[in-house]
Amino acid sequence: MGRTGVWLAGARGSVASTAITGALAIRAGLADRVGLVSEAPGFPAFDLLPGLADLVFGGHDLSGVPLTKRAQQLAQAGVIPAGLPARLHGELAAVDADITTGGADGRTRSPAETLRRISADIAAFRDRHGLDRVVVVNVASTEPPTPARPEHATLADLTRAIGLGTMVLPASACYAYAAFDAGCGHVDFTPSIGARLPALAELARERAVPYAGSDGKTGETLLKAVLAPMFAGRHLHVGSWSGTNLLGGGDGANLADPQTAASKLESKRRLVDETLGYPVEGPLHIDYVADLGEQKTAWDHVTFQGFLGARMTLQFTWQGYDSALAAPLVLDLARLVAAAHAAGRAGPLPELAYFFKDPIGTSVHDLAAQYDMLRSFVAQGCT
Ligand SMILES: NC(=O)c1ccc[n+]([C@@H]2O[C@H](COP(=O)([O-])OP(=O)(O)OC[C@H]3O[C@@H](n4cnc5c(N)ncnc54)[C@H](O)[C@@H]3O)[C@@H](O)[C@H]2O)c1
Repeated sequence: MGRTGVWLAGARGSVASTAITGALAIRAGLADRVGLVSEAPGFPAFDLLPGLADLVFGGHDLSGVPLTKRAQQLAQAGVIPAGLPARLHGELAAVDADITTGGADGRTRSPAETLRRISADIAAFRDRHGLDRVVVVNVASTEPPTPARPEHATLADLTRAIGLGTMVLPASACYAYAAFDAGCGHVDFTPSIGARLPALAELARERAVPYAGSDGKTGETLLKAVLAPMFAGRHLHVGSWSGTNLLGGGDGANLADPQTAASKLESKRRLVDETLGYPVEGPLHIDYVADLGEQKTAWDHVTFQGFLGARMTLQFTWQGYDSALAAPLVLDLARLVAAAHAAGRAGPLPELAYFFKDPIGTSVHDLAAQYDMLRSFVAQGCT
């Protein structure tokens, strides 16, 4: 594999800044590879997987706060080591020069013009760096749920609506559209609609590019993907599963809006019912606590019945740095989607369900089963 571009929508956000800083730190020999699934001992070797040193970063962000500053903020918040931003200052500034302030900002009058500009920015990045291919990764702020619209039904409908200027396409779908149109693979690390419009599935097939999503699995849902199959396998009957998530950071502030949080709650909800095969009651909350900074806490309370109706309870607490959990997965996904593209794979990649709360193209939620799917996908050359 030659050099691979990673074009991040939301490139100056916490997840993107941590991913970029981490990749630069590993390349400079300043950090190890803990947290990267694709670098775990025993993970199948595959020569189409681009090396971390072969990744070139760029992207769009509505914010103009430079990466050098974002890295300092992440160090102050305890997400990355204190000395790293200063040691990587030159490299971070060079990546920042490849980040365009703007993108799908909802301000341009013509939708066609927005899509054309995003595609042109990605193509210019590819040409500027002589990249073999580019993967577009959406790590921008989560959007509220998108209602079904007739103009999104088929690619012909969408193309017509774009031409007429009547299209209302959310930013996440604009990035997916522009990625496919520019011949790039796509990852949606957010619960936003992204590539999940039927018209965009058609476009990906037509342009022969692969895509994966949705919503990175890094905390409460990761534990659910391990624990729900355990209850099913032991034939214990789950009566309720309640969850409270406390989030700081930009993501937490954005999810303080109940409409936006609805997207995240929807993507978290499916797993338990689909794994157990029956509906399970239980409230699920996401709340913003500014004082948590870049940290998050999930507390889950599960009631279940065992043999002869004995009633029991499981509780767990998960505390972590959101972006430190997410960033290595962004790097894994960019590499894996690039490898699938190079191997000639097009359309959705359900084999990457291991990384997502709400995986596209499969209802397999069991983490161990998802890991087996991932390993055999890579061992078979990502085809
Ligand atoms: N563990 C995790 O951190 C985790 C797990 C799963 C999903 N996610 C998702 O990843 C995304 C990023 O999380 P974060 O913590 O980095 O959030 P953040 O608020 O720090 O960063 C989001 C960035 O997106 C930018 N942005 C907003 N709208 C944009 C647009 N239309 N075009 C381009 N840029 C835009 C913002 O300016 C900001 O820099 C969120 O949607 C979050 O829900 C995060």
